[in-house]
Amino acid sequence: MKTIAVPLTGGRGYEIHVGARLEGLGRTLRGRVAGRRALVVSSAPMARLYGPRLLRSLRAAGFAPALASVPAGESRKNLETVRKIYAACLAARLDRRCPVIALGGGVVGDAAGFAAATYMRGLPLVQCPTTLLAAVDSSIGGKTGVDLPEGKNLVGAFHQPRLVWADLSVLKTLPEKEWRTGMAEVVKYGLIADAELANRLEALTLSNLRGKPALLEDIVARCAAIKADVVARDERETRGLREILNLGHTFGHAVEAVTGYKAYTHGEAISIGMAAAARLAARLGLAPAPLAARTEILLARWGLPVRARRAPPRKKLLAAMSRDKKNRAGKFRFVVPTAWGRVRSGVEATPDVLDKVLTEVGL
Ligand SMILES: NC(=O)c1ccc[n+]([C@@H]2O[C@H](COP(=O)([O-])OP(=O)(O)OC[C@H]3O[C@@H](n4cnc5c(N)ncnc54)[C@H](O)[C@@H]3O)[C@@H](O)[C@H]2O)c1
Ligand SMILES: [Zn+2]
Repeated sequence: MKTIAVPLTGGRGYEIHVGARLEGLGRTLRGRVAGRRALVVSSAPMARLYGPRLLRSLRAAGFAPALASVPAGESRKNLETVRKIYAACLAARLDRRCPVIALGGGVVGDAAGFAAATYMRGLPLVQCPTTLLAAVDSSIGGKTGVDLPEGKNLVGAFHQPRLVWADLSVLKTLPEKEWRTGMAEVVKYGLIADAELANRLEALTLSNLRGKPALLEDIVARCAAIKADVVARDERETRGLREILNLGHTFGHAVEAVTGYKAYTHGEAISIGMAAAARLAARLGLAPAPLAARTEILLARWGLPVRARRAPPRKKLLAAMSRDKKNRAGKFRFVVPTAWGRVRSGVEATPDVLDKVLTEVGL
């Protein structure tokens, strides 16, 4: 097991335990919260597969846990689901010392996290990620929220967890498609901050990772540490640091939006986005020419696309990109790779350069 500290001000710092066992959560949590009652929020399949182990661990540590099963899938990451979680908080008679424990992927983590942030103005939150993406990304950093029919993640709150407990053995049931989506974020961490991690990813395969728990733990812990470091230095995305985590996401989010979230997984969309960002850097003279090719080879190695299968209407794509939160004063701002393991944020591009880059990646 590897423990990573997220140092935050005001006694809000917490630990990420990578490679921990669900069986050990109760005992560690006992020392972190005062309440005896607890609510585990999960999707039905995760509750069935991993709920019993977690509940046993909580009971053995003196908690009286209840379990709430919420619908899975991005389409259910909404206020209706949050309302169900509030009802479960009420039924479980939680007070402000009692933890909400999210057992699931990013959808469960974001919705349960938002409920924990807002029920009684805030309950302690524990994240138990069950997808690779949640383990390296969404469980860390305190962003919680849900979608509105008008758009993704439009309602939310910053609410840091008390503890992140990543039992990686639960990934054994994760479908291949979800592994690949998580790997897009893992590659992202290498490209933004860790040349050595990126080098290792050039030599590994998915079956290596699935077959070697210690190796997987090492890689996940490395990613978690990068995110923890960025979050600790720019918790609320006000200092321009946290936006490096968005490499490939300005393009990627727009691709997802214009294709109705159906044509590409998030990982596939940001993979095309990372390829586009690398090409943009080359065109702007911000990176040596071979960097874009090396980036694309790495992404392709992990089964991720670097070209769109079909070009969406360009006007719609640009409109979606213009809604990106990083934009300022009507100008597009990108994070682009400048060297292996290094990026620059706040890079502006003129419409003609952007046009060429989009065409190059089939968008
Ligand atoms: N809060 C943040 O900082 C942050 C960061 C990145 C992404 N997100 C959010 O995370 C969400 C995506 O998360 P995700 O990729 O984990 O998707 P997800 O939660 O939808 O999980 C993907 C699928 O895998 C299934 N699953 C989960 N764990 C499993 C396991 N161990 N075995 C078998 N199946 C399993 C789920 O039921 C689901 O069908 C998005 O809503 C995104 O907005 C949030
Ligand atoms: Zn992402």
